[in-house]
Amino acid sequence: PPLAKFVDELPRLKDIRVWVDQQIIVGAFKIQQKLHRDLPPTTLYAYGTTYESASYPGPTIEVIENVVSHIRWENHITDSQHMLALDKSIMWANPRSGGVPTVTHVHGAEAHSTSDGHPDAWFTAAGDHGNAYTTQNGTYPNAQPPTMLWYHDHTFGISRVNVLAGLAGLYIIRSNEDSPDWMPKEKFEIQLVLQDKQFFYNGSINFPNVGNSPTNHAQWCPEYFGDTILVNGKAWPYLQVKPQMYRFRVLNAANARVFELSMENANLSFVQIGTDQGLLEKPQSLKILTVAPAERVDLIVDFSTVPGSEVFLNNSGQAPYPEGDAAFSPESTRSVMKFIVSNDVNQNASITTQTLSMIPAVLKEPEALINTTNAQWRSYFMFEMDDPNGNPLSSLLSNLTWNDPATETPTKGATEVWEFINLTPDAHPMHIHLIKFHLLNQQEFNLKLWEEGGCDLFNDASRCLVGEPTPGLLNQVGPKDTILAMPNKVTRLVMQWTAQNGGDFPFDPTTGPGYLWHCHILDHEDNDMMRPIKITRQAH
Ligand code: C2O
Ligand code: CU
Repeated sequence: PPLAKFVDELPRLKDIRVWVDQQIIVGAFKIQQKLHRDLPPTTLYAYGTTYESASYPGPTIEVIENVVSHIRWENHITDSQHMLALDKSIMWANPRSGGVPTVTHVHGAEAHSTSDGHPDAWFTAAGDHGNAYTTQNGTYPNAQPPTMLWYHDHTFGISRVNVLAGLAGLYIIRSNEDSPDWMPKEKFEIQLVLQDKQFFYNGSINFPNVGNSPTNHAQWCPEYFGDTILVNGKAWPYLQVKPQMYRFRVLNAANARVFELSMENANLSFVQIGTDQGLLEKPQSLKILTVAPAERVDLIVDFSTVPGSEVFLNNSGQAPYPEGDAAFSPESTRSVMKFIVSNDVNQNASITTQTLSMIPAVLKEPEALINTTNAQWRSYFMFEMDDPNGNPLSSLLSNLTWNDPATETPTKGATEVWEFINLTPDAHPMHIHLIKFHLLNQQEFNLKLWEEGGCDLFNDASRCLVGEPTPGLLNQVGPKDTILAMPNKVTRLVMQWTAQNGGDFPFDPTTGPGYLWHCHILDHEDNDMMRPIKITRQAH
């Protein structure tokens, strides 16, 4: 029978506060955890400071702006082979002595590349490791604006399997100043980690063991979509809230599913105040909020106008996005969770009196416009390779694979504009390590004209462009590290290869194994939709 919805309470994530310059240990463990009232415990790989405290999602690591944190990442998964099916026909870590390799990336962190969770810096419990491995001790300067990042496995060729197995958690950089009066805090600030999974009746994760083009890829499938939506590790939970303002910090930690969130109550809107890399300049009131894999949104919701009601958080995102295939977007994926708003408007003295009108019209000083006249332009196209039956084999970035030498060699300090020409039917959430970027604009692309040979993407795509570039929505223009590149469109980003707070990095980004950029559909990044970045020194 299908699992009943809204029968489990939303779990509060545990947190580890790293508020002084100290080292903490975060290990990967094999655990069992109940993900729904009626589902037997699920075997997971999960993060924790100890086996007993390990959980899916992992503990939220809370740090303070400009206070360095040291995290020793350990691997205590002693399985001789992975509990889920792997595909040995795609490039992957492939440890000589077996075991389950892991390596952890703090997504969105400004860190030296030896601490960046390079895919080839994986290691196993038995001590085997990849070519880029130097240390398990990560150093994070946290010298970037306060925001919510996340940490997750990034092992070469099996990130999709390790993250699905449970290796993901939040990482919050807090300001060293008190938050403003209008901002809901402490128990009124709630983190929501969204994922989809599919289960067998015995509670174990149903991950396909046969690929969609098995003669080419024994197991790999173009996207993993589950029929069960989990929030903080519970399937379709509920949360009791008071009729007042809340802050929700949402992460889409799914392998491939794009959520389009909405609240089933005409009186309510999301007021988005922040995105991946911190506050927006202006709050954005939205009825529908698109959150692609790895993106974060910082939201205010005011339940004071709906006391005593139930508010359903729904999802209208099609999977794959945006076209959709009914098989991957069943009715069960339309629901996310439910808020039960209590009725104690006047009786309860503990209700805060914050109102949406207290949110300032300008949340932070506008960032200086980046001058793009002398910027280095880089143009990439996304192209899906299919087998003769039309089954995807991989999506590549400008027909290059992970093993091709780095073509992205930004000079430290440089301003660059990157454009992604998406020739595939799917939207791809593109992520660049180390820096933040802003959406410059988007433009229509004439796919048919290109197919007829109307333009050469390696030299000049301009003849296939349609109309004028249009600026993105205000919440896409904010400080981002992941952006959804839509099909039949060109998506242009502007970035500076400088520290996020401006100026020089607090470490040398030209040394170590280097950085990378990739599609954050984990099934895509595992199969070559990922490229190295080699930062070079300024020429003198
Ligand atoms: Cu969230 Cu390179 O990853
Ligand atoms: Cu992709």
